[in-house]
Amino acid sequence: MSIEIIEKIRESDSLELALENALNKLKRAVKKRNDDLHLLNLVTVDNKNEPNTRNVVLRDFSIENLTIRFHTDKRSSKIKDIKNNKAICLIGYDKKAKLQIRIDADAFAIEDQEILIDIWKKMYPMSRECYRVSKSPGDKIESLDEVKFDEDNESNLIGFNNFTAIQCDIKSIEILYLNHKANIRAKYNNSNGILNGEWIIP
Ligand SMILES: Cc1cc2nc3c(=O)[nH]c(=O)nc-3n(C[C@H](O)[C@H](O)[C@H](O)COP(=O)(O)O)c2cc1C
Repeated sequence: MSIEIIEKIRESDSLELALENALNKLKRAVKKRNDDLHLLNLVTVDNKNEPNTRNVVLRDFSIENLTIRFHTDKRSSKIKDIKNNKAICLIGYDKKAKLQIRIDADAFAIEDQEILIDIWKKMYPMSRECYRVSKSPGDKIESLDEVKFDEDNESNLIGFNNFTAIQCDIKSIEILYLNHKANIRAKYNNSNGILNGEWIIP
């Protein structure tokens, strides 16, 4: 399957086909928990200009708006990084499709409470629990006994104040298809909502 599409891309020399396939793979990964691209690696830069990396779950991808969303704790260090420098990278690799997707984006915390509460209510109770951890993520502790959670109540809103959703406005997407004949690499820059692509030597 992956070989077939890669051959089609090679034969057609079509930047559009290469992109369309990659975007569809990313879109499908939002709902598929076992999909490789359901997990993306997020890179931020801190106030000392040092890079930091960690995995985040891909929660939404809009092909129309060229935005990606992930969820996190407001108290986490990635939020401090993003407030300091909105420029981020996201990278993932779909093993079956032999496709790496690398994204440059600007990240913003969604402020609209209605949107946040809507996302919160649709989350699994288990996912909400992380946000009820009493101390801040990243705090140093003497013992694992200090990992405590605030009690939930019937409002199911305990922890909501720690929750945030980050919208990433895509600036560019780079794709790399691995192939035995020759790898295929292209970069697409977002120019007013249109992804303009060019082939690159892999
Ligand atoms: C499979 C997996 C999925 C994860 N998903 C998220 C996520 O969606 N959001 C998040 O904030 N952290 C997620 N984490 C935890 C982060 O990778 C990281 O450890 C944590 O958020 C602290 O990062 P920070 O201190 O750099 O902010 C995930 C970790 C793993 C292993």
